Amino acid sequence: MKFFADTADVDAIRELNELGLLDGVTTNPSLIKKSGRDIIEVTREICSIVGGPVSAEVVATETGAMLAEGRLLAEIAPNIAVKVPLTLDGLKACKVLTGEGKMVNVTLCFSANQALLAAKAGATFISPFIGRLDDIHLDGMDLIPEIRQIYDNYGFETDILAASIRSVNHVKAAALIGADVMTAPPSVIKALATHPLTDKGLDGFLKDAADAGIKIA
Ligand code: G3P
Repeated sequence: MKFFADTADVDAIRELNELGLLDGVTTNPSLIKKSGRDIIEVTREICSIVGGPVSAEVVATETGAMLAEGRLLAEIAPNIAVKVPLTLDGLKACKVLTGEGKMVNVTLCFSANQALLAAKAGATFISPFIGRLDDIHLDGMDLIPEIRQIYDNYGFETDILAASIRSVNHVKAAALIGADVMTAPPSVIKALATHPLTDKGLDGFLKDAADAGIKIA
């Protein structure tokens, strides 16, 4: 499973990249707003840190304007994935941009049928939003096996990018089902490494090493 960081915080991206845990980055207008930086400038810096796909989202809603924005974003770096919303205009833009050889991430997916359309439009990634479905008292994770089945039935090559991931349990469930990628806030990615028994066990080993005077280097 590939790990993307869902953030425009370059310090957090650098930290995860140095840990060797990062396969890409996803951003959206809300995350760019949170960074307080210019979208082009911050996206360029992210692309200089991460070699994998970096999703940058258009803000236009009509196909022609989305194409203009998408082409500008794609000029930032070769690893840009243009992010377009799952609307009819977005799907049209997806088809054109992927036809030009650009990566496209179709975002704001909340149903298996929407994911089917994105695959037919040639999307590189489909982003089903798990947490936001949970927010309205549905089980967002139900979407992942449905999309997996549909894509496998027809051999669609679109990667399932589990998005709006809010917890380590979301990550495990998405991995068990077979999502190709998950994108999560850096805090969730780092939390995957923690376990109270790991901390307790390490304390015990360190205490015994000190008692025994163990020195290795
Ligand atoms: O990248 C978009 C998605 O992951 C947003 O997550 O937590 O704002 O629903 P969230």
